[in-house]
Amino acid sequence: MKRISILILCIIIVSCRSTETKKPITGLVVDSAMVVSAHPLASKVGVDVMKKGGNAIDAAIATQLALAVVYPGAGNIGGGGFMLARMKDGSVDALDYREMAPSKATANMYLGETGEAIPALSVLGHLASGVPGTVAGLEESHKKYGKLPWKDLVQPSIDLALNGFVLTEKEAEGMKYIQEDLKKYNSVLPTQLINENWKAGDTIKHTDLGHALERIRDNGKAGFYEGETAKHIVEEMTRGNGLITYEDLKNYNAVWRVPVTTQYKGYKVISMPPPSSGGVALFQLLKSVENQPIKEWGWNSAKTVHLMTEAERRAYADRSIYLGDPDFVKVPVELLISNQYNKERMSNFQPDKATPSSDIKEGDFSFVESEETTHLSVIDQEGNAVSVTTTLNGGYGSRVVVAGSGFFLNNEMDDFSVKPGAPNMYGAVGGEANKIEPGKRMLSSMTPTIVEKDGNLFMVVGTPGGTTIITSVFQTILNVVDHGMTMQEAVDAKRIHSQWAPDLVFNEKKALTEKDSLALVSMGHTFKMRNSIGRVDAILVRPDKKLEGGADPRGDDKAEGY
Ligand code: GLY
Repeated sequence: MKRISILILCIIIVSCRSTETKKPITGLVVDSAMVVSAHPLASKVGVDVMKKGGNAIDAAIATQLALAVVYPGAGNIGGGGFMLARMKDGSVDALDYREMAPSKATANMYLGETGEAIPALSVLGHLASGVPGTVAGLEESHKKYGKLPWKDLVQPSIDLALNGFVLTEKEAEGMKYIQEDLKKYNSVLPTQLINENWKAGDTIKHTDLGHALERIRDNGKAGFYEGETAKHIVEEMTRGNGLITYEDLKNYNAVWRVPVTTQYKGYKVISMPPPSSGGVALFQLLKSVENQPIKEWGWNSAKTVHLMTEAERRAYADRSIYLGDPDFVKVPVELLISNQYNKERMSNFQPDKATPSSDIKEGDFSFVESEETTHLSVIDQEGNAVSVTTTLNGGYGSRVVVAGSGFFLNNEMDDFSVKPGAPNMYGAVGGEANKIEPGKRMLSSMTPTIVEKDGNLFMVVGTPGGTTIITSVFQTILNVVDHGMTMQEAVDAKRIHSQWAPDLVFNEKKALTEKDSLALVSMGHTFKMRNSIGRVDAILVRPDKKLEGGADPRGDDKAEGY
């Protein structure tokens, strides 16, 4: 036991940061309009749309479609997402285009003969896909708020797909990584994607995807959920024993929801309601730490990390029990985000001792790292703001490419509670509220968020990262509001994450000083190092009204603007 403790200490010390002070770092600063997304080409598409007179919604639509081409690991038309908007008059809106369980889905569809969960079935191959929501969401957001003609927003992604574009190093690595799965899960091989030796600088074309996008350009939602693309999806399902039918596709609708809002230290925070757990859990975390002197304790000091971890333990335990699709289960949102509830929840917080997660509720399993999703933040020249998080779930989703239409299908069914108490690919457990039911939306952690200060737009923020999404957005807000960082510093700052179960604190290299990590270990926390947590893309409205972008250096992310 003693030897194990010494080993853990050694690992932590190796991964510690030093206490040297750094010069302030500022991201791209512009006067009027900005897009921050996971790929430079997609950010450029969004900015070009605004230069042509489009608003933030138009830019968000065009950027998402471009990401479906240049960033196919998470950008998508075969997945789903959430859009949060704050218009220049201060009104807010939330659009849910989360995937839906097919009508033939059943609560036990991923269980074996003896009732055991078979994780591979909900993660890889045709059975892992929910009915995609992205195209319905994009059309719906355009119908309500768009300014430029729809076809002008789709055309740039068609051009990228048909003319080809140059792979970045990270994209080439991603494509290389999935070669075996492409062959394993596709009986009709996506020949343009097959190449064991993809490398940075190679040009890749997505011809079938380009033609699928042309059908979306010409027919909107019907160009995806009906006609040739629908036929390709259903044929793909037939080949691979998947469940999505023509009726499932035709019946899919994006849903407008009322955003959740809360106050944190005088800032108004607006976020995504269920079926995302993101807004609710983020607010629980903010409420749980609001009355503590975080600024005085300092960024990632032992006291601050201990407090955040204890708050996270409690919020994620609640997530596993209470959160689900509000069209199917009653989610006690107001109670969960109330001051009184979170005060009560933190009443057994001990300032110098970790609470074992098993004392809050049992949960014991290993954590599997795989968490691709993508986020984009947009502000236009009129002050409209959009925060979008969209996903296939795992990187390149189910690894199934719809033959003839060239896009990856999601593996979002894994975000359901496949079996109460069994962890999903993010290690998150769920219960009855998130069980599989036909037509139900699976619980998400996506947390597209907008922050106001004194009634004015202040920050647009979000990130991929599975269950680490909520804690990454949480830390980014604290970094700016409590620790006074610039947007870029707040995004760059090393992150930590915990989620109640497993009873671990994950840390990026150099997230903690040696002194603080030793203090945390002596309080009873157990650490595990991870390469990277989150990929936050955010925009801050500075006091001089200029926009500062924070593009996450953990990826190819890029802020563009003017
Ligand atoms: N698939 C990740 C999420 O929705 O949270």
